[in-house]
Amino acid sequence: TPVAILLSGRGSNATALIDAARDPAFPARICLVLSNKPDAPGLEMARQAGLPTRAIDHRLFGKDRAAHEHAIHAALEEAGAKAVCLAGYMRLLTPYLTNAWAGRMLNIHPSILPSFPGLHTHERALEAGVRLHGCTVHLVTEGMDEGPILGQAAVPVLPDDTADMLAARVLRQEHALYPLALRHFLTQNPATAANSAALVVA
Ligand code: GRF
Repeated sequence: TPVAILLSGRGSNATALIDAARDPAFPARICLVLSNKPDAPGLEMARQAGLPTRAIDHRLFGKDRAAHEHAIHAALEEAGAKAVCLAGYMRLLTPYLTNAWAGRMLNIHPSILPSFPGLHTHERALEAGVRLHGCTVHLVTEGMDEGPILGQAAVPVLPDDTADMLAARVLRQEHALYPLALRHFLTQNPATAANSAALVVA
């Protein structure tokens, strides 16, 4: 299945997906890596990996979010994408794009949703004193970090953790979880994939 990746930064989750997709047995082929930031390290990584890349700079569209998303949608269609993985894509999407890709767009979020949607999840987990933290792969809907959960991974919060230490522990699980969740998603019956709750990495 042709799958596109949207990112804005470092691209370590994109790397995990790209590496997984090198295995001919993996059900996704990465058909495009697209960034809203032309200088995103993740975009350069994808170029080095020999994949098709596009930069569609949101700054060139001013306040016109719709025009930016139309350009993204056109690029996704042109690449023949059948599903999209958000991997550190740091702009909120409008209903135009979430509706266009409803049931076909995945996101990874660095917390065990529905706890800690939004930013600074590791700091907030430490403040809240939770003993388990982790990450979630979910289908993208209109609401930020909402949408049916496809898989989750948990890590312990250790006594002397800093936000950075916790983030690194979670990130390792993200890199394991995202390819697993994508494979699971692509090989399940779409009607039952969401909420199948089958995917737990502990
Ligand atoms: C990850 O923590 C991901 O969960 C969040 O943004 C970060 C992206 O990191 N959505 P990377 O660009 O994949 O390295």
